[in-house]
Amino acid sequence: MRVSVLNGVGTLTVEERPVPAPEPHQVLVRIASVGVCGSDVHYYEHGRIGRFVVEQPLVLGHEASGVVEAVGSEVSRLTVGQRVSLEPGVPDLACEQCLAGRYNLCTDMRFHATPPIDGSFAELVTIHELFAHPLPDSVSDDAGALLEPLSVAIWACQKAGVTAGSRVLVTGAGPVGLLVVQVARAVGATDVVVSDVNASRLALAVELGATAALDVGQTSLTEAGLQPDVLIECSGNSRALVEALELMAPAGHVVLVGMGSGDAPLPLSLVQERELVVTGTFRYAHTWPTAIALAASGRVELDRLVTGHFGLDDVEGALTASRTDETTIKPIVHPGRR
Ligand SMILES: NC(=O)c1ccc[n+]([C@@H]2O[C@H](COP(=O)([O-])OP(=O)(O)OC[C@H]3O[C@@H](n4cnc5c(N)ncnc54)[C@H](O)[C@@H]3O)[C@@H](O)[C@H]2O)c1
Ligand SMILES: [Zn+2]
Repeated sequence: MRVSVLNGVGTLTVEERPVPAPEPHQVLVRIASVGVCGSDVHYYEHGRIGRFVVEQPLVLGHEASGVVEAVGSEVSRLTVGQRVSLEPGVPDLACEQCLAGRYNLCTDMRFHATPPIDGSFAELVTIHELFAHPLPDSVSDDAGALLEPLSVAIWACQKAGVTAGSRVLVTGAGPVGLLVVQVARAVGATDVVVSDVNASRLALAVELGATAALDVGQTSLTEAGLQPDVLIECSGNSRALVEALELMAPAGHVVLVGMGSGDAPLPLSLVQERELVVTGTFRYAHTWPTAIALAASGRVELDRLVTGHFGLDDVEGALTASRTDETTIKPIVHPGRR
């Protein structure tokens, strides 16, 4: 099978590798679509994210869908020919966090495209059958891949307690922010304001259901007269976080999704006086059933985020698309194509 391999910072090669044999509880999936995530771009450009360092050749890509090509001897839930969406983090299902139901916090997680675990820029991938979720016909291959970032958004909205009538501020209108906007609307939020510095992303946010869009390159958040009861920070920009915190209604919920701001200053007196609830989120747990339902019902539009299609020989084009074109949202790699 053909595989795109990251061999060092900025160096990708297409290699032939033997087709992996599924273990008893695994399925072998022929990959149809893989979304490019900011983390793939980061590994390609810098060779590391925090404590995760690329020390050996790594296959990127962790937002994937495909068709079951073969099943292991003990597989009972899936059959050959079924379309599936891959949930790319396979926990041990044995540690304290897993047994408490928080498998995203598993202390022995094997997450695709996170060193040293290979991802899905490959023609074929094996995965535990519990983490290959059957797709209804109404969900396209590309949308099946994007159930992964949709899961990030669902988890964030669940953690924030977004509900009917919520007034939500979403900072950052990248793929994750755009999905948070849609999920928040789907669960009944009536005010969903989104901020960014990218005009085309803000315009799309409004098309996808945001009730207002603020270009914080032009006007400041502080002047917009907002008093959200939920903040979902999706920019990874510490200034966005600090400015938005000031606006929060008492007893508001603040969810930190965006990464990369390092040690941002947190105004503790504000958190105390307003009894704000501040939490991080790390990926998601048990979100695929909700993600599939939202996509299949049309409540969330995933195909609208797709901005380009690339074959396996041009993974580099997919990983650099956002650098060369600021209207890029989600490039898709099709490993079966040249
Ligand atoms: N917590 C998790 O499990 C998890 C999972 C996936 C992604 N993430 C993180 O979520 C964030 C969003 O992911 P993405 O794929 O949408 O990334 P992205 O980089 O495409 O989007 C971030 C957006 O924030 C905007 N931005 C920059 N400065 C801003 C400011 N001051 N105010 C408002 N917006 C601003 C950028 O223009 C961009 O559109 C990233 O930081 C990513 O690392 C976290
Ligand atoms: Zn575990």
